[in-house]
Amino acid sequence: MLELNQVSASYHLAPVVQAVSMRVETGETVALIGPNGAGKSTLLGALSGTVPRRQGQAWFDGVDLMTLPSHQIVALGVVQVPEGRHVFAPMSVQDNLLLGSVALAQRQRALQQRYDAVYGLFPRLAERRHQLAGTLSGGEQQMVAIGRALMSRPKLLLLDEPFLGLAPKVVEEIRQALNTLRGEGLTMILVEQKLDIALPFTSRTHVMIKGQLALVQNSAELMRDPDLGQLYFRLAQPAVWSSP
Ligand SMILES: Nc1ncnc2c1ncn2[C@@H]1O[C@H](COP(=O)(O)OP(=O)(O)OP(=O)(O)O)[C@@H](O)[C@H]1O
Ligand SMILES: [Mg+2]
Repeated sequence: MLELNQVSASYHLAPVVQAVSMRVETGETVALIGPNGAGKSTLLGALSGTVPRRQGQAWFDGVDLMTLPSHQIVALGVVQVPEGRHVFAPMSVQDNLLLGSVALAQRQRALQQRYDAVYGLFPRLAERRHQLAGTLSGGEQQMVAIGRALMSRPKLLLLDEPFLGLAPKVVEEIRQALNTLRGEGLTMILVEQKLDIALPFTSRTHVMIKGQLALVQNSAELMRDPDLGQLYFRLAQPAVWSSP
């Protein structure tokens, strides 16, 4: 479904993401993990067209995302839920959701059906549909951010740390919603700092260090690694050669 070939991305001249190649199959949920500043958000931004300098190819159902502006990428079904939620505070929950549908042609929107899908997934939002998004709790705002992405009928959801700063109960609620979406066949790339959330939730894990992919491994296998706590440290070290 998605095949990245030597994708690089940056904001200015200094490279941030460097020559990343990876594949995501239809229906798969993969993790993208790595330390702060590794370039995880930048890679998602390269795919969604929000990072200014992009190179390489990212084939999505036969179309190269790297050549398209962000609104066309959304219309193709690749939608990012950005880090830090970013709801439109002075607008109601429902109007925030409505904004998620604007990239679709009028006839494709089927608005009521989309609202029903989002409210079915997050009943809390249904109760608060007329409430201003800025007055919601952090967890509810994250639900709005995910709901807004779902309004455009995504085929591939790019989730940037959706659990960041949330209480365990809300983390669980959102995890279950994502689980439901996965069960419906939605393909997802999950950027996540916490390995204990990312690994059990995904089939494969991509570890990014300093802008490059340092490891791609089956998530279940990686979970059994006895030295998992040292993963980033280990991958960041140059290879150590023993003397003969
Ligand atoms: N808008 C921007 N303009 C310039 N540089 C940026 C911008 N956003 C990120 N960077 C730089 O790009 C590098 C990678 O940042 P990025 O946000 O992609 O990392 P990340 O892996 O998502 O980190 P975190 O885990 O902290 O979210 C960092 O050095 C950062 O300072
Ligand atoms: Mg980030």
